[in-house]
Amino acid sequence: MRVLSIETSCDETGVSIIEASGDFNADFSYRVLGNALLSQAAVHAPYGGVFPNLAKREHEKNLVPLMQQALVEADLLTAGSSIADIGTILEREADLRTQLDAFLSEYAKPRIDAIAVTHGPGLEPALWVGVNFAKALAAAWQLPIVPVNHMEGHIVLSATGEDGLASFKFPLLSLLISGGHTELVLSKEWMQYELVGQTRDDAVGEAFDKVARLMDLPYPGGPEISRLAAEVRGEKPLVTLPRPMIDADNYDFSFSGLKTAVRKVVEANQPLTENMKKHIALEFENACADVLIAKTKRAIEEFSAETILIGGGVSANSHIRASLAKAIEKSGYETKLLIPPPALATDNALMIALAGYFRALKDEFAEPVTIRANGNLKLT
Ligand code: KG4
Ligand code: ZN
Repeated sequence: MRVLSIETSCDETGVSIIEASGDFNADFSYRVLGNALLSQAAVHAPYGGVFPNLAKREHEKNLVPLMQQALVEADLLTAGSSIADIGTILEREADLRTQLDAFLSEYAKPRIDAIAVTHGPGLEPALWVGVNFAKALAAAWQLPIVPVNHMEGHIVLSATGEDGLASFKFPLLSLLISGGHTELVLSKEWMQYELVGQTRDDAVGEAFDKVARLMDLPYPGGPEISRLAAEVRGEKPLVTLPRPMIDADNYDFSFSGLKTAVRKVVEANQPLTENMKKHIALEFENACADVLIAKTKRAIEEFSAETILIGGGVSANSHIRASLAKAIEKSGYETKLLIPPPALATDNALMIALAGYFRALKDEFAEPVTIRANGNLKLT
């Protein structure tokens, strides 16, 4: 099955095409035929975070060129025309409509079997662009649509190696850490989820971004903080920050107090020297890693997890990855650790194609009119 996927939940626009066969525990394999991704980070940087309406406009501008790029890479673009009427589907996305009309009049329907699109969670104005684009393509090419949960995309990607699924056992515990989520999710079976803990306020990636902003570092803050921390890693941190909720008898997190603690340290140390910035980054990264790992370890024990998976943008963080691996090794658990390649930890459309393929195998196609963007979509 060939799946073309669309991701527009936040500030990355992605279009990907995979060819996949088999099923979970039944020789699943796949090839990436095309993968196009454009980050809007530079566009949002002056705002210190993602500005939803700007994200919407950028997705509208970039979807057709990215789809074209992915189709060229996949060698699936041929001259011709796709004449089916797309009606009023893109009436709120005039710029996208103009580009798509031109594209459809120039190129034939590609050899694709299904369209997968992120319908949540994320920023609703941004999600709608992808959803409406998927509906327009489905109408033009007469293809089925499978709506995908973005977080499931992160999970499936982390569980997948270069050409197939990693072999692992259940229960599977997923630590999802991104700009919008900090969750511990338990799966007793493939693609079934039970939320066991989550943040009560800010997501961990959001905390990285806000802390970076407090120190005048560019958006997105995660990679910047990590780079600064690495320069003094091994030294004793010059500041001390709290580990919120580390001893609480649950699997919930809280990062907003940690951010406030950083603000106080920043205010007390004006003007901030470069060395102080590095030490704040170091102690902040340590504090995040400590709480994430303490809660994850406790959940591994409680739920007798055979496999632990990390996914989402923050799972690109090398200190968090290494600390988790070390903690598991030291604990003597037999737990297997699945981590995404750093370049695929942050948002992309490949993860949506992979999750979409497995949902398509379950025949979870949806009637286009029923597909809606849902900013708060939950894993079920
Ligand atoms: O999964 P993602 O690309 O988008 C969401 O679905 O939110 O995650 C983006 C988040 C941002 O908050 C960014 O600062 C953070 O992931 N991030 C990192 C690193 N790379 C990205 N945080 C810590 N260390 C990193 N190396
Ligand atoms: Zn994400």
